[in-house]
Amino acid sequence: MKQEIETIQTDALAAIDAAGDEKSLDDARVAFLGKKGRLTVASAGMKDLSKEDKPVVGQLLNVARQAITSAIETKQTALADEADKKSVQGIDLTLPARSLPVGALHPITQVKDSAIQTLRRMGFALAEGPEIEDEFHCFDALNTPEDHPARNEKDTFYFDSGKLLRTHTSSVQIRTMEKATPPVRIIAPGSAYRRDEIDATHLSVFNQLEGLYVDTDVKLGDLKGTLEFFLRSMFGDDTEVRFRPHFFPFTEPSFEIDIKLHAKGQEPKWIEIAGCGMVDPAVFESLCETRGDDVFSPDKVTGFAFGMGIDRLAMIKWGIKDIRLLIENDVRFLKQFA
Ligand code: DAH
Repeated sequence: MKQEIETIQTDALAAIDAAGDEKSLDDARVAFLGKKGRLTVASAGMKDLSKEDKPVVGQLLNVARQAITSAIETKQTALADEADKKSVQGIDLTLPARSLPVGALHPITQVKDSAIQTLRRMGFALAEGPEIEDEFHCFDALNTPEDHPARNEKDTFYFDSGKLLRTHTSSVQIRTMEKATPPVRIIAPGSAYRRDEIDATHLSVFNQLEGLYVDTDVKLGDLKGTLEFFLRSMFGDDTEVRFRPHFFPFTEPSFEIDIKLHAKGQEPKWIEIAGCGMVDPAVFESLCETRGDDVFSPDKVTGFAFGMGIDRLAMIKWGIKDIRLLIENDVRFLKQFA
């Protein structure tokens, strides 16, 4: 019997050694250790042995089983390693990985975020209002009479209901003051809509940022200082800024602000980026009427307001000569700001 067990073990180890793949290794396992395998069958012969022989043969059987099992495990690992190696054959594992394209914020979002950040540091809080506005908040409450061109069908997108797509973010001034009490210091970024001819500096949907500061003693110097500081922190200390007298119904006096645009491959030129002024007392008077109190009475408060074109801020920051590039979503253009 001892001889037989040794032969089985030798045969098994040879078969395992010869196995070239998982399948033939498993065949070998079944042939020796399976239910009808040679070692299993030999073990069955134990019952015919004498009492003295049983423990001796039993131990031999155990040793043979362990040797075969561990040979199978070793072979399994070796086969798996070999398969691994084969799967990467011909691949240069030292090559650098292919880089994935990384997304980035749109240039308009970038300037908007940095404008908000700067103004918040100066004490302005974020405010918002609806893009589908009524005429009252867009025009009447802002001292804009019936015959003002902005109210014309040709200049503004109206709905059948009489509502409209807001032509500026200035309506948020009114909505904020209807609910708040002075002092008020807010900024309101958002979309504005006009039936403008689209060209290098105009879109019919564009982005504005409105600002309003109302308190007991706000002066024109505060307006100028705030906006100059803001624009210099956005574009650098040597930014050329000019305030040009202008007319807006809701501010008196009013100004337009221009900045020199140094566009690539073009002569520098002034472009208008904001309107601003001291809140017209007529706006405060109408507000007192709507509210039914006098906390915003022009006898008690003064204020300044401004509205900037965010798209134009982006044009100045990066020297972009055509505003349409900002909405065409050409990745070759946008990539430059990533
Ligand atoms: N709403 C004006 C526009 O869209 C910009 C503006 C001018 C806003 C003067 C203001 C302001 O708050 O005081 O052209």
